[in-house]
Amino acid sequence: MKKNFKEVVFSGVQPTGNLHLGNYLGAIKNFVELQKKMECIYCVVDLHAITIFQEPKNLKKHILETVAGFIACGLDVKKSIIFNQSSVSGHAELAWIFNCVSRIGWMNRMTQFKEKAGSDKEKASVGLYVYPNLMAADILLYKATHVPVGDDQKQHLELSRDIAQKFNNDYKSENFFPIPEPLIHKGFSRVMSLRDGSKKMSKSEESDYSRINLTDSSDDIVKKIKKAKTDSLSIPDSIKDLEGRPEALNLLNIYSSLKNSKIEKTLEQMAGKDFSKFKENLSEILIDIICPIGKKIKDLKKDENYLQKTLEDGSSKASKIATKNLKEIKKIVGFPLY
Ligand code: TRP
Repeated sequence: MKKNFKEVVFSGVQPTGNLHLGNYLGAIKNFVELQKKMECIYCVVDLHAITIFQEPKNLKKHILETVAGFIACGLDVKKSIIFNQSSVSGHAELAWIFNCVSRIGWMNRMTQFKEKAGSDKEKASVGLYVYPNLMAADILLYKATHVPVGDDQKQHLELSRDIAQKFNNDYKSENFFPIPEPLIHKGFSRVMSLRDGSKKMSKSEESDYSRINLTDSSDDIVKKIKKAKTDSLSIPDSIKDLEGRPEALNLLNIYSSLKNSKIEKTLEQMAGKDFSKFKENLSEILIDIICPIGKKIKDLKKDENYLQKTLEDGSSKASKIATKNLKEIKKIVGFPLY
């Protein structure tokens, strides 16, 4: 018999510092919607970040910047729990238990490790290898039932489901952990680089022209969109005609997503226009939506105490849930409790 779990949303964001349009449209905008209808926990995953070396003073700065971004985009600390992972020790403790549940064969299938470790796997950190087990711990420490993730994290979420299942079976605790479901953002496609429509928009791409940062000025936005790669054809009236035109598709997707409408609708309105005209419309809506967020981020960043306090409050709320669940977990595993 399957138990009905209370619906809890959990997601994690790496503290990469300056957030960009891809983080907003691909994740945070959806987090804001979800907090209206479910209990939500959003975590800045600093333990995951150090699987690749981070300069300590940058790490702290990036964590606070991420929190400022969350709040500026509309996350509300009264509705959602916002905290950083390392402040709740249960994440690391449960990750250890999961290191012992998860199998080496499962780890070896993870494609993100292969990409991140690159050609010299011997030199990758052990943490990078077991990264997905920590991610499972993040989710299951709160018995989360729903996890908003992008495409690139689907395999890790599958692994979290396998770990939950194996734990429940091995420890004969049927229904202890929920089997978490991915929440894939409907009607949304990944935001791609403005310079290369086959690559994800990313903080690590060298050229700043490849992305719209949430703190870009209106001039930056106009310049970047003007320079964004397209092709010489005009806007078609059907999606099929965008095949093989990834850059054109990307700009149209971004526009539709900002407008909260379907790409089909955008094509209906824009068919026949050339891209230079469309880019003016796109810049306008980007400026309307992104510039107020950017201003708020800059204001919030000036108030470091407020950001620290936000994390501290979030962390104490998260700890309460984590401590209770971890106690139950330890009991199931057979560790003595005092
Ligand atoms: N691995 C995720 C990413 O890189 C971040 C993450 C860590 C996460 N823990 C999580 C996402 C738990 C969802 C749930 O995007």
